[in-house]
Amino acid sequence: MYPQFPPGFRFGMSTSAYQIEGAVDAGGKGPSIWDTFTAQGGTVRHGQDGRVAIDHYHRYESDIALIAAAGVQDYRFSFSWPRVLAGDLDFYDRLVDTIVANGLRPVPTLYHWDLPQEFEDAGGWMNRDTAHRLADYASTLVLRLGDRVRDWITMNEMNVHTLYGYALGDHAPARGLGLGALPAGHHQLLAHGLAVQVLRTHGARGVGVASQHFPVMPASESAEDVAAATLFSDLTNWTFSDPILLGDYPSELIRAGVGVPDAQLDRDLELIRARLDFYGVNYYEPTMIEAPRVGKDYSGVLEVDIPDGMPFSPVPVKSDERTDFGWAIVPSGLTEILVTLHERYPALPPVIITENGASFHDAAPGPDGRVHDERRIAYLGAHLAAVADAIAAGVRVDGYYVWSAIDNFEWAAGFDERFGLIHVDFDDLSRTPKDSYYWYRDLIAAQAP
Ligand code: FCB
Repeated sequence: MYPQFPPGFRFGMSTSAYQIEGAVDAGGKGPSIWDTFTAQGGTVRHGQDGRVAIDHYHRYESDIALIAAAGVQDYRFSFSWPRVLAGDLDFYDRLVDTIVANGLRPVPTLYHWDLPQEFEDAGGWMNRDTAHRLADYASTLVLRLGDRVRDWITMNEMNVHTLYGYALGDHAPARGLGLGALPAGHHQLLAHGLAVQVLRTHGARGVGVASQHFPVMPASESAEDVAAATLFSDLTNWTFSDPILLGDYPSELIRAGVGVPDAQLDRDLELIRARLDFYGVNYYEPTMIEAPRVGKDYSGVLEVDIPDGMPFSPVPVKSDERTDFGWAIVPSGLTEILVTLHERYPALPPVIITENGASFHDAAPGPDGRVHDERRIAYLGAHLAAVADAIAAGVRVDGYYVWSAIDNFEWAAGFDERFGLIHVDFDDLSRTPKDSYYWYRDLIAAQAP
C-alpha cells in the first residue's frame, strides 16, 4: 500500500532559515534582502514578513525532536547568511548538535535567498564579488561545523532566485531586469563552484546543489509555441544545470547574455562543473508556454506576469487538480523531469529530491486535536510513486525530502500557504503534527529494511 524504495533510500524534510527562524535582529544580525523587501509594503500578501516567522530560533529543540520522531533520516535546513556575518554561530552550533543528538543527518543549504542587505547594496548577485563573499561564508561554516556536518548543499534554486528576484521583481531584491538578469544567475553558479571547492578542501563528504526543475510544455505543436517553450526551458531549467553537469550554457544567446568575456567564462565554467556527490531536484509543477498572441492580455492569468516584449508567455497547465496555491498537480511531471535529466546528463550524480510538497489551507486542529489533510497525503503519495517510477526507469534517486517539515513564511505569499507536515497556529505558534505527518512516518516505517 505504500510505495517501496531501494534499501538505503533516505527520507527527509526541508526548511529554510528566513521562512522559519524569526529573531531577525537577535545577536546583532543585520538585515537580509528579505527584511528589506518585506518592509517595503505591498510586496507580500497582508503585508506579512519573517520577523517572527515561526520563531524556530527559540523553539528549535522541540521542532527538531518532532521532526526526528517521524523517523526521517535527513533534515535539510539553511543558514541565515546575515546571522553568520554577525558572528552568531552559536545558534547553528546548538542547532547542529540538536539535529545530531536526535539521530538525524544534517543537510544544510548555504544560501536559500536571504542575501545580506550590505552585499545587495554593493550590487547583489549582479556583482561578481558576491560569489567570493559566498566562498568566504562557506569556509566560515565548514570550519566551525564540518566536524558534525558532512553533507552540504551550496545554493537553493538559483533559477527561481534569478527569475523572481532579478528578472521579474516579485521576490527580493525586486530588480525587474528581464533578460538582463542573466549575470545574476552566472554569479550564483560561480559561487556554487567556489563553494564546492572550499567545502571539499575542508573535508566535506557529500556536496550537492538544490535546483528547481520542471517539464516545459508548448501550448500547441505550432513552431512558434515550440520555439517559445524551448527558449523558456533553456532559461529556467538548463541555464542552471548545463554549466554544472555539461560545463557550458545551453545556447550562444545565453552565453553572451551572462556578460563575461570568453576566456574568463571558460575558466568560470571549469569551476562550475566541479564534480558533485548528489544532485538535488526540487519539483512542484510543470509549466506551459506559448508564443505571445498579439492583443491577448496575460496579466493576472498566472501568479507571475512576464513583462511585455518577452518572447514567451506562461499559460495555465491543463489539470483537473490544483493545490490551494493554484499549482497544477501533475505527479507524472516528476517522473518525466527525472528521466529527462538522466538522459540529458551522462554525468548526473545520484539524485535527491530536495523539495516536493503542496500547500493546502488546512483547518486548525479540530475537537479531536488532529489536522486532517487528506489532499496532502494524496499529493505526497502520488509524487513518491512517481519517484519510484523514475527509479524503475533507470534513474538513480537516493532520497526524498518533503517541503516542508512545518508550516512557514511562504515568501511573497506570506503565511496563507501551508506546506508543512506539522501545523502551526500563527497566533500562539503552537505546533500540531498533521495526518500527513503520521502517514509519512508510517510510510517510512513500512520500508523493507
Ligand atoms: C521553493 C522554495 C521553498 C518554498 C517552496 C514552496 O521554490 O525553494 O523555499 O518556498 O518553493
